[in-house]
Amino acid sequence: MSKVSRRDFLKNSAYLTGAAWLSTSIFGCSSPVTIAKNKGAIEFLHGVASGDPLTDSLILWTKVTPVHQPDSVQLLLEVSESIDFSIVQHRQLCLAHREADYCCKVDLTGLEPGRSYFYRFSDSATQSVTGHGKTLPVGSVSKVRFAVVSCSNYPAGYFHVYQQVAQQQLDAVLHLGDYIYEYEQGGYATEHSVDLGRALAADNQTEMVSLTDYRKRYALYRSDKDLQQAHASHSFICVWDDHEITNDAWTDGAENHQPNEGDYKVRKLNALQAYYEWMPIRPQVSGQLQSLSRSFAFGDLVDLHMLDTRIEGRMKQLDYSQYTKADGQFDQQRFYKDLSSSHRTLLGSKQQQWLQQQLLQSKGRYQVLGQQVLMAKMWLPAELLKALAKPEQGLADKMMELARLKQQTELTAADQARLSTKMPFNFDAWDGYPYERELIYQTAQKARKALVVLAGDTHNAWASSLHNQQGDKVGIELATASVTSPGIEYYLKLDTKKVEQLAKLMPVLIDELEYCDLHQRGYLLVEFTTEQVLAQWFAVSSILKKNYQASLIHSAAYSNLLD
Ligand SMILES: [Fe+2]
Repeated sequence: MSKVSRRDFLKNSAYLTGAAWLSTSIFGCSSPVTIAKNKGAIEFLHGVASGDPLTDSLILWTKVTPVHQPDSVQLLLEVSESIDFSIVQHRQLCLAHREADYCCKVDLTGLEPGRSYFYRFSDSATQSVTGHGKTLPVGSVSKVRFAVVSCSNYPAGYFHVYQQVAQQQLDAVLHLGDYIYEYEQGGYATEHSVDLGRALAADNQTEMVSLTDYRKRYALYRSDKDLQQAHASHSFICVWDDHEITNDAWTDGAENHQPNEGDYKVRKLNALQAYYEWMPIRPQVSGQLQSLSRSFAFGDLVDLHMLDTRIEGRMKQLDYSQYTKADGQFDQQRFYKDLSSSHRTLLGSKQQQWLQQQLLQSKGRYQVLGQQVLMAKMWLPAELLKALAKPEQGLADKMMELARLKQQTELTAADQARLSTKMPFNFDAWDGYPYERELIYQTAQKARKALVVLAGDTHNAWASSLHNQQGDKVGIELATASVTSPGIEYYLKLDTKKVEQLAKLMPVLIDELEYCDLHQRGYLLVEFTTEQVLAQWFAVSSILKKNYQASLIHSAAYSNLLD
């Protein structure tokens, strides 16, 4: 983790959010603190949150809604090891500033490692709900459990997945991005929103561009009781993906940013400011918002490295349509030259070197990458890429045909070529940045560390084995389905039966892929012990009905990650 001095932290906090964040130690709180009195009533409408646990500290967050609009609201923060606050370990006053959207964030230090803490905020008249957070353990650790979530689209459906996550016994929740979506009412995945009572707020129905737009969207999402309960129950460790800014973002632009929406840089900084205000996250680099890579050591068992594959260093995504020659043929040579270029970067050189350093130095049994996009090589037979454009016209049948072919022992040269002529289909993922992926694989191998890569982004569940260019196995990838965002079944316009067929065929046709689910919403539970990594994919039966069931749809245990 980048080391930030206390002075830098305070300077940074002031710079970022109008001095709304406080770094305070649990020690030195023995003097009595009187309960805060504010002019005018306040409400806690958006719950509480904890995040970015270290062995001695936690970020604690709340947001107040004052009836009037004072410059700041004073709050009392109380922290206890018991849920009934029978003994209060720490009391302090803190401020929620108007400049920071009345979000109040405290980096509380001086805590004990591997402990549960309860916290709440109040003023003289009103009290928040109680939240629970957990610090990182030290030394010998026998078990670590994460829930992994991504892609929570409020208008698309109910956040039942967050409700399920709230009920689990966990060390932390990892949110891998797309915590909010930028689209307008009537846009992507909003078709059921009015019937569900989940339309975008009346004063925030256009695509988010300004700081106010982003803040209002967070406020809507965080009004959801299931999401509030997940935050109140567990410490979150979060990274953004593209939709916290806008679709298919890279460092200097995005697919969903048009010239009439103003300067992209301004929009990006608006989005990141709101993100830092609303999320229980600790800033890493003094004076700038555009980096959030950081590591968390869970004793000697798990080193978790959270990455930014979106903002800090990502070059623009490749696009097949840019590689058509004058005669209409695909310019294969130029395409592969660009794709495999050593200049193509997803992390940026600084973050890439930092990660390599972390992998070489970290001592944990498992090296876990918490990040946004799929790292596995997801190459499909080239003829399927054309079929993907019109899936309703026989994609499943073509896949079936190729999968059967693959299972045959004797093939003609022509059939062999059909199967072996493969191409990547998602340049927004690591497949569009293979040189840098290989560098990470080589570093892990050099350090004799097996990788456990966690991913979100696709809205579907995946499990893959990862191999370097020489074909040596370097680890596994476990990817979570979305909380509510529609998956491949929505894009391909296929019914459940067809999409279940496809899910069975994909691992036959994609070399590294071992499992996928292409149509259910859910989350991933990963449990690390000294013996194994246990991955369990859970799904909810519906996001469009209030009543639902949650079930385990797949599990996989890995006792040796390099076998
Ligand atoms: Fe998403």
